[in-house]
Amino acid sequence: AEVQTRVQAIANMSSIIDTIPAEFIRSEKEQPALTTFTGPTPEIPTIDLSDPDQDNLVRVIADASREWGLFQIVNHGLPVEAIKNLQEAGKTFFELPAEEKELYARPPGANHLEGYGTKLQKEMEGKKTWVDYLFHNIWPPARINYQFWPKNPASYREANEEYAKHLRLVADKLFSYLSLGIGLEPNVLKDALGGEEVEYLLKINYYPPCPRPDLTLGVAPHTDMSAITILVPNEVAGLQVFKDDRWFDAKYIPNALIIHIGDQIQILSNGKYKSVFHRTTVNKDKTRMSWPVFCSPPPEHVIGPLPQLVDEENPAKFKTKKYKDYEYCKLNKLPQ
Ligand code: SIN
Ligand code: FE2
Repeated sequence: AEVQTRVQAIANMSSIIDTIPAEFIRSEKEQPALTTFTGPTPEIPTIDLSDPDQDNLVRVIADASREWGLFQIVNHGLPVEAIKNLQEAGKTFFELPAEEKELYARPPGANHLEGYGTKLQKEMEGKKTWVDYLFHNIWPPARINYQFWPKNPASYREANEEYAKHLRLVADKLFSYLSLGIGLEPNVLKDALGGEEVEYLLKINYYPPCPRPDLTLGVAPHTDMSAITILVPNEVAGLQVFKDDRWFDAKYIPNALIIHIGDQIQILSNGKYKSVFHRTTVNKDKTRMSWPVFCSPPPEHVIGPLPQLVDEENPAKFKTKKYKDYEYCKLNKLPQ
């Protein structure tokens, strides 16, 4: 079988010769050193989820989801300990010897995303990105394949189960605020996404130190195909959001969760909420890591603009289709 070169191995070589392979160098239109906005304002919104004024909370979440498609939440109820344990377990896995990580490699040509790997989306420019990753489902139980959950460290399983348990409560709150924010009953968006069948897919991104962070990207610009993505980063900043033709840095806020509006919420809301176009940069000296969880409908579930939001003045802006068909088009860069 073909053995893929992991970015972690390329990074070790690159640090010795102090340069990076040409296939990692972006065009000038994309190089972060040339395209990052450096002004002081505006800033990506930070929202206190413990705000007792529910009307205000609904309003600030809806505004952020319309204008940015991304915001950070604090006082979200997900215990710091659960975040710490998830991160410690994932970091320990990525620091294992290559052979041990390869035991979890995504089988080539598999019809799912799960496993350890190096590249998912076909790239516009045919460029590589400075990241390795691990994908596995964390909920619902019937969709978990423990073969892709590392056995080392031994704490991995418990840490992930505990994180998933708390995370689902946060997701439920967000779905309900997002529903209220566009004039719907609180249960509408979650129900439209499949209710208790909503799937939670964890990705761990591992971005090794890079001798030329000015020239390359960790993740190329994209929107998430999920409904929402809930992400916790390590302390190395690198996420950037595109708004008004500029790339903005998301600042690191300890223990905050970063919420992305994904394509499925954009579609259900018929464009009232915007899925966020984002990318990541890498760091010269430090390893950046992030743990996004993609909350998505089950594969056979049909998603389209909610009928309540469509009329003669507001025609449907998106097609209605099964999530697995949306995913197929997205991953293969086909028109939706
Ligand atoms: C991603 O959008 O896929 C990664 C975001 C991050 O690492 O912060
Ligand atoms: Fe993303």
